[in-house]
Amino acid sequence: MTEIAIAILAAGKGTRMKSRLPKVLHAIAGQPLLHHVLATARGLCPERLVLVLGPDMEEVGAALPQGSPEVAIAVQAERLGTGHALMMAEPALAYFSGDVLVLYGDVPLITGETLRALLARRKSSGAALAVLAFEPKDSAAYGRLVLGSGGTLERIVECLDTDEATAASTLCNSGIMAVSGAHLFGLLKTLENNNAKGEYYLTDIVAAARRLGLDCVHAMALEEEVMGINDRVQLAEAEAALQGRLRRSAMENGATLIDPATTWLSPDTVLGEDVIVGPNTVFGPGVRVSDGVEIRAFCHLEGAEVGRGAIIGPYARLRPGAEIGEGARVGNFVEVKKARVEKGAKINHLSYIGDARVGAGANIGAGTITCNFDGYAKSFSDIGAGAFIGSNSALVAPVVIGDGAVVAAGSVITRDVAADAIAVARGKQSEYAGAAAKRRDRKESGRKK
Ligand code: UD1
Ligand code: MG
Repeated sequence: MTEIAIAILAAGKGTRMKSRLPKVLHAIAGQPLLHHVLATARGLCPERLVLVLGPDMEEVGAALPQGSPEVAIAVQAERLGTGHALMMAEPALAYFSGDVLVLYGDVPLITGETLRALLARRKSSGAALAVLAFEPKDSAAYGRLVLGSGGTLERIVECLDTDEATAASTLCNSGIMAVSGAHLFGLLKTLENNNAKGEYYLTDIVAAARRLGLDCVHAMALEEEVMGINDRVQLAEAEAALQGRLRRSAMENGATLIDPATTWLSPDTVLGEDVIVGPNTVFGPGVRVSDGVEIRAFCHLEGAEVGRGAIIGPYARLRPGAEIGEGARVGNFVEVKKARVEKGAKINHLSYIGDARVGAGANIGAGTITCNFDGYAKSFSDIGAGAFIGSNSALVAPVVIGDGAVVAAGSVITRDVAADAIAVARGKQSEYAGAAAKRRDRKESGRKK
């Protein structure tokens, strides 16, 4: 396969987002738009990867996810158009003669499959460039492809520059194209800015190539993949489209989503076979759920692993570092953070388990809290296998509860408890015979007066 380099254009201001945050850092499925594009780009194993940013976008460069290849950043000091933006990538692409694939930072739903098809089309046609086209429901805002009699691509006309004949065309430019590196920068040098916007349009390289007798072609994409995000309404539409894709793939892989429309997934969510997910459940980044798990309604999971056959929720929260063992049970209003809950352990109601281990088969009573933070440092609670923690206990970490130990309900445990011991750490109960009746008599005779 021809070697490829990828240039991602992202210097645009994104004014219509009405935001202090650069547009490409707005998120869908919990990840910045640009990171979706980067992940797809890296999936194509390019030789080089260059990102064109505006001069005031340091935070975008600073937040880039690590990966291979590394991202070279080119700064476009003045926003003079898409053609000008790509010129800024030239130093990073010097001496590159493979295909240069141009992507947009605000077109996050493009798939590797479609891009591979575009690259294959460029190669098999022998054309100098291939443009990814689509037929949108509303073509008003897009550049139009003008085809020659043999179906070859002759030029692209921007929407503001269309005449009667070209305005009628519904074949639109997605902006994404694959260009032979041998021709790209020579073609860019011929661009002029005598058009409606006074910009250097990347799209004009098609006509420039034709003038030199070079062929140009197009490939088709679905509108959903090439939708660009310019405002928050489109951001929400892209979120919906991406969630639709993630939900479909989760179901195809054997998970039941009882109400797909209220199941929110991350691109890296892994759901095993026969997993059942109840309504109104959110999967943040980094969740892996094994086969046969039931996640009941209203759960929130993030950075968590759930072992085979476990039951989570309803209303449970698994935070980063939660590892729930096989067949374990995490019930309603339970929060687990950075804790390993081993095989068959049960935390059924109203608990906080953080910085802890809960041994196999242990039973954590309602309202149990691991007191892991003293205001300065976090400490660990180690609860042994088969331990029984009575309801409403506070385990003040660092603390070890031995295997098979019992902690009496309502205890505040500040010292380690030996295996198989019973620890009671609560006020002693006193009882005064008949005192309640006397009190009642006293109060009621007072009221009659
Ligand atoms: C562009 C295309 C149009 C196509 C549409 C698809 C051109 C001239 N027009 O128009 O044919 O139908 O996309 O959505 O290419 N950017 C820079 N620097 C700049 C200008 C833009 O980096 O100076 C980046 C933006 O950040 C964005 C991308 O290029 O990622 C596209 O820019 P945008 O202004 O949205 O182009 P459109 O007018 O939508
Ligand atoms: Mg645009």
